[in-house]
Amino acid sequence: MEPFSIDSKTSLLCLIGWPIRHSMSPIMHNALLQKLKLNYVYLAFNVKKEGLKPAIYGIKALDIKGVNITIPHKETIIPYLDEIDPLAAKIGAVNTIKKNSGVLIGKNTDAEGAKKSLIDAGCTLSGRNVLVLGAGGASRAVCFALTDEVDKIFIANRTEKRALSLAKQINKKTDAIAEGYSNKKAVLETLISNSQILINTTPIGMHPTTDELPLPENLLHEDLFVFDVVYNPLKTKLLKKAEEKGCRILGGLDMLVNQGALAFEWWTGKTPDTKLMKTKILDYLEETNVR
Ligand SMILES: NC(=O)c1ccc[n+]([C@@H]2O[C@H](COP(=O)([O-])OP(=O)(O)OC[C@H]3O[C@@H](n4cnc5c(N)ncnc54)[C@H](OP(=O)(O)O)[C@@H]3O)[C@@H](O)[C@H]2O)c1
Repeated sequence: MEPFSIDSKTSLLCLIGWPIRHSMSPIMHNALLQKLKLNYVYLAFNVKKEGLKPAIYGIKALDIKGVNITIPHKETIIPYLDEIDPLAAKIGAVNTIKKNSGVLIGKNTDAEGAKKSLIDAGCTLSGRNVLVLGAGGASRAVCFALTDEVDKIFIANRTEKRALSLAKQINKKTDAIAEGYSNKKAVLETLISNSQILINTTPIGMHPTTDELPLPENLLHEDLFVFDVVYNPLKTKLLKKAEEKGCRILGGLDMLVNQGALAFEWWTGKTPDTKLMKTKILDYLEETNVR
C-alpha cells in the first residue's frame, strides 16, 4: 500500500482514552483510509481524566471529524455532547463521536457491534436467557444491546452491588428482565443451568493471564453458545474448554471489528472492508505474539 499523502486538506480522526497504547483502532482505521484513498489520518491520544475537558475544546477548535472514546471517558464524555443517539443514551456510555457542522453527536457502536457479532455467528437471541459475567463497560454495552432480543439477562459479578446496579438500570430504562448476582460458584451453577448463552465480559483469560477461566470449567454445558469479548488471545481458555464440551463459540475479534466498522461508516459514509480490518489486527497480534 502507498503511504499516506498528508497535505493541508487532510482531516483528523482519533481515539482518546488512557491507557491507549494497546489499541487496535489506529491500525484498522488507517488501513481502511489508505485502501479507500480517503484524505484522513487516525491517531490515538493518551488523555487522562483531567484532560477530557481540554481535549473536547481541542476537538472542536481543531475541527476533528470523528473520535473514538475509550476508558475512562465513555460515560463522562456525555455532558460535553450536543446530541446523543437513543441507544447510547439508554446505555449511558458513548464510544464514538461525529462532528457535524460544529455539533458533536455521540453513539455507542460497542453495543451494536456486539449484537451484530452474535447474530452473524448464528446465535439465536429470541427467547433465550443470557448469563453475562462482569458488570463493567463491556458488560453494559453487551447487556443493553440484548435487551430487545433475549428473555432474561443474568449479570454475575465479583462485586455483586455493581451487578445489582446494572440490572436495576436496565430494568428501569428498557422492557428487559435483568437480575444481578455475585460470581460465587453455587450462584453461577444455578444461573448457567438456566441459560442458553454465556458471555464473558471480564478481562479474565486476556493476555498475559491466558491460563485463567472466569468460571469453573465443570459448569459449562453443551447447550451453551459461549461468547468471550476478549480478543487477545483470539481463542481464550474459556472458548477452548467450551469447544471441548461441544458448545458453539465466538471470540471478541468480530465485536472489535464491527464496532470499528460502524464508526468508520458513520464518519466517512463508506462501507469498510471488514476482512482487511481483521487481517490487520491478526498481523498485529502475530507480530506482538499474543495470538
Ligand atoms: N471485543 C471488543 O470489542 C471489546 C470491547 C470492550 C472491551 N473488551 C474487553 O472486555 C474486557 C473488559 O473490559 P471493560 O472495559 O468492561 O473493563 P471494566 O469496565 O474494567 O470491567 C471489568 C469487569 O470485569 C470484572 N473483573 C475484572 N477482573 C476480575 C477478576 N480477576 N475476577 C473477577 N472479575 C473481574 C470486574 O469486576 P468488579 O466490578 O468486581 O471490578 C468488572 O465487572 C477487557 O478484556 C477488554 O479488552 C472487548
